[in-house]
Amino acid sequence: MTAPAIQTPTARAAAQTAPTGAAPAPAAAPGTAALDEAVRRDPVGQRVLTGDRPTGPLHLGHYFGTLQNRVRLQGLGAEMFVVIADYQVITDRDIAHRLAEHTENLVLDYLATGIDPERATIFPHSAVPALNQLLLPFLSLVSVAELGRNPTVKDEIAHSSQATVNGLMFTYPVHQAADILFCKAHLVPVGQDQLPHLEVARTVARRFNERYPLPGGTGVFPQPEALLSAAPLLLGTDGAKMSKSRGNSIPLSADEDTTARLIRGAKTDAERRIGYDPADRPEVSSLVLLAALCQGRAPERIAEEIGDGGAAALKRTVTESVNEHLRPIRARRAELAADRGYIRQVLRDGAERANAVADATLTEVRAVMGSL
Ligand code: TRP
Repeated sequence: MTAPAIQTPTARAAAQTAPTGAAPAPAAAPGTAALDEAVRRDPVGQRVLTGDRPTGPLHLGHYFGTLQNRVRLQGLGAEMFVVIADYQVITDRDIAHRLAEHTENLVLDYLATGIDPERATIFPHSAVPALNQLLLPFLSLVSVAELGRNPTVKDEIAHSSQATVNGLMFTYPVHQAADILFCKAHLVPVGQDQLPHLEVARTVARRFNERYPLPGGTGVFPQPEALLSAAPLLLGTDGAKMSKSRGNSIPLSADEDTTARLIRGAKTDAERRIGYDPADRPEVSSLVLLAALCQGRAPERIAEEIGDGGAAALKRTVTESVNEHLRPIRARRAELAADRGYIRQVLRDGAERANAVADATLTEVRAVMGSL
């Protein structure tokens, strides 16, 4: 099987890095270890929700940033929901271009990397009406000023090609709160950029519980916690953050030659000796780190081994490491891709399970709100 072991290469690399006193281990969120511990103690009691927008193939940044972590949490026995945020795609695009294809490809990336559809509920949120209905009461709990202040939304508006900002763009963090709260998720593994949205979900949960308390002083919704990935940021081939929309990423599904070509084109610097120094030499260090994550070794060791070999030797090592690490994942992906009917069935099953959970939550919400 392709599922990474419980201790991920990231964790191992970090563990090896720490005692040397060299580059600090990748920053984990405060409390992440405690949350991990909570999952370990009571895996079945922990509901984990994560999600992605179906806008294109997942890349190495996703893989080391979140996919491995999801598989690890799944392995610990947590109950997982994976939302495919197809409505979020239309926040900044007029047409949802090739949406069905992107959605199916996302499922392929998930399954190939080890997410198990028997254990995880994978669903597009557009297929879950009760989840979407939660948006209405939730919108009444946040002010327009709060929506306007959301830094992630501001950033997306700044980078959007749209001439005007539509209402869905402005309100999608509240919709994301519905993604999280419909299943009463406890843990939400996310990247740094999603923290403002997690805060919205927490605020909505708290205000809903205050406004519509249950007898006994409790509320319908638990407070979801962010679980920040311990994996450090991988840069794209242009030296900016690796991102689908920037065209600087190395897709998991790329073939070996494409991977080699993309890595050959990656930005480096003029210094011949290879080192691991993320602050002063971000591009070279990100490549070193990528090889380290793939090999499950400390980045300093990789840099030392390449030494005076320069950028060309570094890129050869990175290409080999990536292709080798991804080989079983890509093979599994190709196998799965041959049966689109199965992928569509995974989505239908996931939507059915998500609908049952969302219907139950909406029933509770309507009851405390005194709806007919
Ligand atoms: N906004 C997330 C992104 O752009 C995707 C997403 C949608 C999500 N709903 C979510 C992430 C719920 C975590 C939890 O990547």
